[in-house]
Amino acid sequence: MKLSKLASEIAESPTFALNEEARQLRERGEAVINLGIGEPKNKTPIAAILSSAAKLISGEVKYVAPDGVPSLKKAIIRYTEENYDRLVAPENVIVTNGAKQSLFNLIFSILNPQDEVIIIAPYWVSYAEIIKMCMGRPVVVTPEDGTFTPRFEDIERAITSSTRAIIVNSPNNPSGVIYPPELIEQIVELCERKGIFMICDDIYHKLTFDGNRAVPAYHFTKKHIEDSHVVVVNGVAKLYGMTGFRVGWVIAPRALVRVMTNVIVQTTSGVSPVSQAAAEGALNGLQSVVEALRLQIQNNRDVLLQEIKSFNGIRLIEPQGTFYALPDIRAFNGNSVEVSRFLLKKAMVVTVPGREFGMEGHIRISFSGSVKDVTEGIARIKWALDPTSPNEIYIGDKKMIRDWM
Ligand SMILES: Cc1ncc(COP(=O)(O)O)c(C=O)c1O
Repeated sequence: MKLSKLASEIAESPTFALNEEARQLRERGEAVINLGIGEPKNKTPIAAILSSAAKLISGEVKYVAPDGVPSLKKAIIRYTEENYDRLVAPENVIVTNGAKQSLFNLIFSILNPQDEVIIIAPYWVSYAEIIKMCMGRPVVVTPEDGTFTPRFEDIERAITSSTRAIIVNSPNNPSGVIYPPELIEQIVELCERKGIFMICDDIYHKLTFDGNRAVPAYHFTKKHIEDSHVVVVNGVAKLYGMTGFRVGWVIAPRALVRVMTNVIVQTTSGVSPVSQAAAEGALNGLQSVVEALRLQIQNNRDVLLQEIKSFNGIRLIEPQGTFYALPDIRAFNGNSVEVSRFLLKKAMVVTVPGREFGMEGHIRISFSGSVKDVTEGIARIKWALDPTSPNEIYIGDKKMIRDWM
């Protein structure tokens, strides 16, 4: 069978592959803990349920405006004003099937073949694949060993005449770090000077801890939205734990939104009005649900930090946001794929190898689940890797003895 070279070269998502393996183990009755997936355990906010149910009950579920229904755009405009201090027009907003489609559509709309997009390690796995699907070239900037924050000089040095954009994801998946405001300011200035896009993937921007805040890039530019090189991607998946509704959006100059709309018209025709009604309900509903989710995740992060304190050999940069931690596991084995496989086999815990995020020697641990999952999951990882931890543990109702060191 002859398949497209471009499509065949798309890397399999490691998260989906590991989840599938975990699902099969669970089906066989194994007590698997999934610290791989980034998905809050909360129920959909009631305002979102009511609003989408009303749409469904109306029986008016038809094609809608491909760039988003006006009432959802209105809610997004208000959100942008409240959270970014930016007044934008409906023509600056486009609604997509999740932030992932926002990113794909954006990159597709700005790249010519062989153009470059700078991504910063550790980076979300999909960035590099999306860029390649759009026939572009991802250029990775890697921070100094032991840090997850890039040096501005390294970003500047990575720019060539083919660079079209820099993707900035702060708070960052997979490390949980927030880049300092000075760095954001420097990148804004650089992008404006060079005439390239700064794509801010702000999907975690409200999930921050201990009073830390990710200062929006908009804060550092006085340019009107139509002339600005700052483009913001956001969505309801992480903000409200509404991953299954698949609603994201982009705030951009209208010329770019127009091209992105044409792409949507020829691909998906837009987002289901039922999902859009849910997103609208969430955005217009009580925002205490966001704070409740944030507090629950912060508590999980605190539990994780507590558990890791007695974990000999592991090194961790404290997450300041998101629901991920990216510990350095090189003291045990520098090959993160081997470590993740080993942890699933011996300890029945799903983690994601850091190699997939451009950060070998680390594994990503998600603390978006329950406190019990975090506590038990870390105890199992400790048991599997740290020879100074007790060598017996219960996994489900099975007593396990560490016999490999
Ligand atoms: C950094 C980042 N951007 C975008 C997304 C995609 O979000 P959505 O589920 O809205 O497509 C994710 C999801 O994990 C993410 O971690």
